[in-house]
Amino acid sequence: MANQFFGALQKHSNAKVEILNNYFIPWLRKINLGSYSMSRSLVIDGFAGPGVYEDGELGSPIKLLLAATEFCDQCDDNGWKQPSITLIFIEGNKDNYNKLKETIIDNWQAEFDEEDYARLPDYPTIAIQCINNTFATAFKDLLDDIKPGQTLIPSFCFVDPFGFKDTPFELFEKYLSNEKAELLFNFMFEEINRFVTTKNSPKLMETYSNLFGVDDIQELQDLIGDHKKDARKKIVVDYYSRQLLEKSDAKYVLNFEFKKNGRTKMFLFYSTKSTHGLKLMKKQMWKVDDTGLYLFNDKKSADQIEFEFVKEVKDETMRQDLSKLIYENFAERQVGIEFIEEFVLTQTIYPIENYMKQSLKLLEKEGLLIATNRKKPMSYPDGCMVKFN
Ligand SMILES: C[S@@+](CC[C@H](N)C(=O)[O-])C[C@H]1O[C@@H](n2cnc3c(N)ncnc32)[C@H](O)[C@@H]1O
Repeated sequence: MANQFFGALQKHSNAKVEILNNYFIPWLRKINLGSYSMSRSLVIDGFAGPGVYEDGELGSPIKLLLAATEFCDQCDDNGWKQPSITLIFIEGNKDNYNKLKETIIDNWQAEFDEEDYARLPDYPTIAIQCINNTFATAFKDLLDDIKPGQTLIPSFCFVDPFGFKDTPFELFEKYLSNEKAELLFNFMFEEINRFVTTKNSPKLMETYSNLFGVDDIQELQDLIGDHKKDARKKIVVDYYSRQLLEKSDAKYVLNFEFKKNGRTKMFLFYSTKSTHGLKLMKKQMWKVDDTGLYLFNDKKSADQIEFEFVKEVKDETMRQDLSKLIYENFAERQVGIEFIEEFVLTQTIYPIENYMKQSLKLLEKEGLLIATNRKKPMSYPDGCMVKFN
């Protein structure tokens, strides 16, 4: 399977790296430009892969590193202070690990020391560590180094395994207890789903208990019962979401489904405490799929052309739907625009951009709201108040 995977970056993997990259670049900017002192951030790629595929396509660690160096260039061009960015790449396979290191050495003239740390001569504020170990061992070591009372610097962790044996929930729970820690986890649904109801292998059941962070996987098995297909999928995915929301410190969890040849392969689970992070991730996932399903389907997207007028009609229908949701939630109340934004972000499928203000306009045209504290009509700037009839 591994060879086939690396032969050429498959389409659904491509969309996955696109979401990662489109999120990570603005995340770096937000973290680093938002602070007055020397800004620091940590990026972990837990199953890094070789970095470059046989067809030349770039994998996640190289995309992350390129984004970091480009951001440093941008800071240089604008006279901003240089951000301190640490990237940790964990890769269990020796060949992939060597290939990744070689790519970093060849392209950035990095010099690795005996502990596998490297600085890039042209980017002295970027530090890289490549670790040839299993994810769970390396990640546990890293988390164990955080002393009680300390918290990690702002961090983003991407976990993209082949299977599900080495991604125990307790490590994510510990990681997410840090103040500004975000996780993007590729939950390998198809493989997980295959044996999740097994009752005759104590070892496998223990692996499932570790994956879901429960003492006994029996509870999930009982919930699944005789459910099949979509109903079963929903139970498994909701169960994992519930664990993240209830057992870890993540405040928001968003997932995005990937289908290949009509079958669900995986779900990207994003977990954060930050509404800014949630807003940004929704926006980036919406770019990959703007139907509201949060789904990438390789069959559907085969370079299909969507006529502009079809898209406009679809967007308009969605805005009408959102305006209804907003009105139902806020009728006969007066609230600050930030409350409406939080509602749209956390309680609806819609992203903020292109939807929230447009939906408010629809309501205002119908005479269903009055806004104050604004300079221009039909605008909803920060600080404005909205009174719903
Ligand atoms: C799905 S690939 C990662 C692809 C990569 N994220 C990308 O976008 O290019 C999974 C990688 O994890 C490595 N791997 C497998 N088991 C591992 C483990 N337990 N710990 C760390 N790496 C592992 C594999 O060798 C493989 O390179």
